[in-house]
Amino acid sequence: MYWALLVSVSTLSSFTFAQGQSQQAGNTTQDSWPHVYPGMPAGGYSPEWQTYFQVTESLPNVTWPLARNWAGNIPVQRAGHPNDTLFFWAFESSDGSFTADCDEPWGIWLNGGPGGSSLFGLLFENGPIHILSDYSVVENQYAWSTVADHVWIDQPVGTGFSTVDPTGLVPDEDQVATDFMGFLENFVKVFPNLARRPLHLSGESYAGMYIPYIAKAYFEMDNPPVNLAGIAIGDGSLLSIEAFTELPVISVLETYPQVIGYDTQVFEYFHEQSTLCGYNLTLEYPQPEHFPTLNGPISPTAAAETSMKYKKRGLLEAQRKLVAELIKRDAVSMEAGERLQARDTWKRNLAGRANGTIDPWYQCDIYYEMVDYALNFTFPWSSGHQFDVYNIPDALSPEVPIDATVFLNDARTRAAIHAPTSKDWVDYTFPVFAPTNKPTNPFGDPSIEPIAFLTELATSATAHNMKIIIYSGNDDSLIPHFGSQSRSFLSWPNTTFGGIQGFSRKPETAWYNDAGEFAGIVHQERGWTYALVAHAGHFVAYTNPISALTLAREFIFGDNPTGMVTNTNSGTVIVIGGEEPSLGDEIMRGQAGIYYGQATTASTYFFPSATVEAWDSYMTTATAILTRKPR
Ligand SMILES: *[C@@H]1O[C@H](CO)[C@@H](O)[C@H](O)[C@H]1NC(C)=O
Ligand SMILES: *[C@@H]1O[C@H](CO)[C@@H](O)[C@H](O)[C@H]1NC(C)=O
Ligand SMILES: *[C@@H]1O[C@H](CO)[C@@H](O)[C@H](O)[C@H]1NC(C)=O
Ligand SMILES: *[C@@H]1O[C@H](CO)[C@@H](O)[C@H](O)[C@H]1NC(C)=O
Ligand SMILES: *[C@@H]1O[C@H](CO)[C@@H](O)[C@H](O)[C@H]1NC(C)=O
Ligand SMILES: *[C@@H]1O[C@H](CO)[C@@H](O)[C@H](O)[C@H]1NC(C)=O
Ligand SMILES: *[C@@H]1O[C@H](CO)[C@@H](O)[C@H](O)[C@H]1NC(C)=O
Repeated sequence: MYWALLVSVSTLSSFTFAQGQSQQAGNTTQDSWPHVYPGMPAGGYSPEWQTYFQVTESLPNVTWPLARNWAGNIPVQRAGHPNDTLFFWAFESSDGSFTADCDEPWGIWLNGGPGGSSLFGLLFENGPIHILSDYSVVENQYAWSTVADHVWIDQPVGTGFSTVDPTGLVPDEDQVATDFMGFLENFVKVFPNLARRPLHLSGESYAGMYIPYIAKAYFEMDNPPVNLAGIAIGDGSLLSIEAFTELPVISVLETYPQVIGYDTQVFEYFHEQSTLCGYNLTLEYPQPEHFPTLNGPISPTAAAETSMKYKKRGLLEAQRKLVAELIKRDAVSMEAGERLQARDTWKRNLAGRANGTIDPWYQCDIYYEMVDYALNFTFPWSSGHQFDVYNIPDALSPEVPIDATVFLNDARTRAAIHAPTSKDWVDYTFPVFAPTNKPTNPFGDPSIEPIAFLTELATSATAHNMKIIIYSGNDDSLIPHFGSQSRSFLSWPNTTFGGIQGFSRKPETAWYNDAGEFAGIVHQERGWTYALVAHAGHFVAYTNPISALTLAREFIFGDNPTGMVTNTNSGTVIVIGGEEPSLGDEIMRGQAGIYYGQATTASTYFFPSATVEAWDSYMTTATAILTRKPR
């Protein structure tokens, strides 16, 4: 899938990090500009602009009193590109807080994509206004703006309601960061009190590229416009495709054995493929030495060939929700027919498969092989249900509609939030990077993955006492936690912080959400926090708003010490909140049931208990082939 993008960026680039279940994707409107609304101050940015940006007209369908909020476009100050702006929508947490001269923290949220609008986050994840599947609008009591003053920002230029001129797309991540700082410099002229208040910058998915580059730019500035106190990245893409997608396939299967119908022979097959591809890395605490370079998954040439095969066979079904309109043009029905024919032959004919050698068709793209396996053989996916790469237990087809276009493009909304009229809002826009002949990834982004400078970033963060939080939804298959866990351990690849590579102890401390439910695992060490969120997919706050809010209040904005590794005076190491060895196995089994059916008539499928028991009993004996070290 990713490599598919190497051959056909323009057609396929919306797949990987696009917003969940997006039904609207559109090309970047490369000639857009802010709309001038009545009352715009004449001079440069100053607190006088607060009145202009304040949202005072009522929003359609919003029937409850909103906290004070402000919205509009502000230029990034790129020379020669006056129409390159970012769009923001800011909500205060309590009366007067946003403009108060205080020391309270404030937050910014960034969605990924690249090209994913942060208004998706506002309206479906962690913002105060939520749009439901029937397009009605409701208050979200789990908004992060209940914890701190919070701003959702569409960036890079051209994304969502952000505007861009015909030659103004960002060439790379360094420009992304420079533009962001240029925007912030203007923003704090409008809201001067924010300049010194501690800022917590959070985001997810492809924001795993943006945020480290923004932090890097921040550390390089003599006089940064804001006081960056922490960064938080959820299900983020800080490293190579192999590392974040292929490497964890076995751990995904252990989390959701449903994907392969709890079939232990199939598990062993995938395990073998994983090992042959060099994905059998073992995490240790601390990591004693550098990890080797991964072989895989496949060379660009082989990748191109593989992707062509996929395209021909229309095996893009798993991504349908992201690019429904593109998939319609693909041969999905042909694919379904082929699948029916092939069903029953594959697994029952393991002997005929590559045995002891890398599968010639999938090569080391075992992630795609896993998705195909589910679609080919495992109910409910095999009966025409989508494999939701972002949320494994969700096999609904079609998905629940997630569509903010009606609300955001409504003339009343647009006018109230001072949105541009030169473009329509779409959830996901591409391209957001200027054409380059040296893209390092399928999205046309020529910048290296942040993992390359994470040691430096960690060092600067320590020096500035800046918190770094890496969190993951346990039900995400695309950027799952084994990858992100190893990122936060920083043992992979080769990142050292506080003089030690990786975490010194296994994360195995439980945390609980505001409803008192088990919310996952948290571990904090040397300024880094790692949180695994139970019952949450890639879009953590969408799938589990309660846990996401607790995470935000306690760990992102707060200093909850649960999971903190601490040295006592007597030299003993303790972990606050205790350690539960049962959680330290790096796998937290997902929920039992898989939702399927249509959005409105969902059922839940449970595998027969004997099947599950057989798997469990196999797992207790399979430790020899698992890549994890016993305690
Ligand atoms: C985006 O633009 C390309 C090239 O003009 C076109 O082929 C493609 O269909 C467009 N995609 C969308 C979603 O509008
Ligand atoms: C910026 O937008 C204005 C419309 O408000 C347009 O007249 C002008 O040409 C644009 N400038 C650039 C550099 O694109
Ligand atoms: C991965 O598997 C290969 C082949 O079995 C083995 O040589 C290698 O030591 C394993 N690596 C780790 C880190 O376990
Ligand atoms: C880790 O560092 C070693 C030694 O510098 C290097 O050989 C290896 O390629 C690095 N691994 C990765 C994945 O960057
Ligand atoms: C693959 O290996 C298994 C067990 O090691 C063996 O039973 C099977 O015959 C082999 N298949 C092929 C095609 O060699
Ligand atoms: C799924 O079915 C397709 C079409 O028959 C086949 O080419 C492919 O190998 C199968 N994949 C898996 C993982 O079973
Ligand atoms: C308002 O809500 C209704 C459903 O209650 C929906 O049909 C309509 O499209 C919504 N309008 C806007 C502008 O969001």
